[in-house]
Amino acid sequence: MTSLLQAGMEVKLRIFRFDPTRDERPRFQTYEVEADPMDRLLDCLNRIRWEQDPTLSFRWSCGHGICGSDGMRINGVCGLACQKLVKDLEGEVLVEPLPVFKVVKDLVVDLGPFFEKYHSMKPYLITKTPPPERERRQGPEDQQLIEDSIRCILCGCCTASCPVNQNQETESYVGPAALVRAFRYLYDSRDEGFEERLSVLDRKDGVWGCQTHWKCTEVCPKEIPVTKEIGLIKRRLYERKRFP
Ligand code: SF4
Ligand code: FES
Repeated sequence: MTSLLQAGMEVKLRIFRFDPTRDERPRFQTYEVEADPMDRLLDCLNRIRWEQDPTLSFRWSCGHGICGSDGMRINGVCGLACQKLVKDLEGEVLVEPLPVFKVVKDLVVDLGPFFEKYHSMKPYLITKTPPPERERRQGPEDQQLIEDSIRCILCGCCTASCPVNQNQETESYVGPAALVRAFRYLYDSRDEGFEERLSVLDRKDGVWGCQTHWKCTEVCPKEIPVTKEIGLIKRRLYERKRFP
């Protein structure tokens, strides 16, 4: 008898389509593809593009949860198409671009503003003291503190899911992904750039823009405790004011 995991199955996908250079408004198009239960949603999208409709646009690169380029909204929840197995998707699968960002075409969004906010956090090691003779060393305990945040692949799923970012009136909020990167350096025992990052962090559209909705933590495909790390940045700023 063929086991369920070997059996091929028909998957129905309802996919957001929009080409702003030609279409007046977005629409949804339904496709059906043969898939194995252990195939990923990314495999289904590729099959559609290769065998049925080469006009369907979406991004992907590594296919293994590393590059962060195939973030999209799948049945209402942001995630990576390469990490969603067909066997875990129920009924007709609704596939949309990441919300918050402007659509370039179909499932491809403009991440320019996302990376601008990311760069505003000065995402690199800042040092003031003269370099030691050999490398700047870090002990295992200090490394442990930043280990989760280092896993961030900048997929944008957290920022796209954040209710504050989704609110048009607060679009200047830097968003959780940029704050995770700020955390990664603020809590790095070798970094000396705290004061330099203050001007973008200590603002109502900086770390104080976070309203602790926890959506970022729920969707992060790398299981980073995003909300907790944002809370630790808030605490660090608060302590600096309280005990200058
Ligand atoms: Fe993606 Fe998680 Fe990084 Fe946000 S924190 S950009 S969800 S990997
Ligand atoms: Fe690279 Fe999914 S394709 S993370």
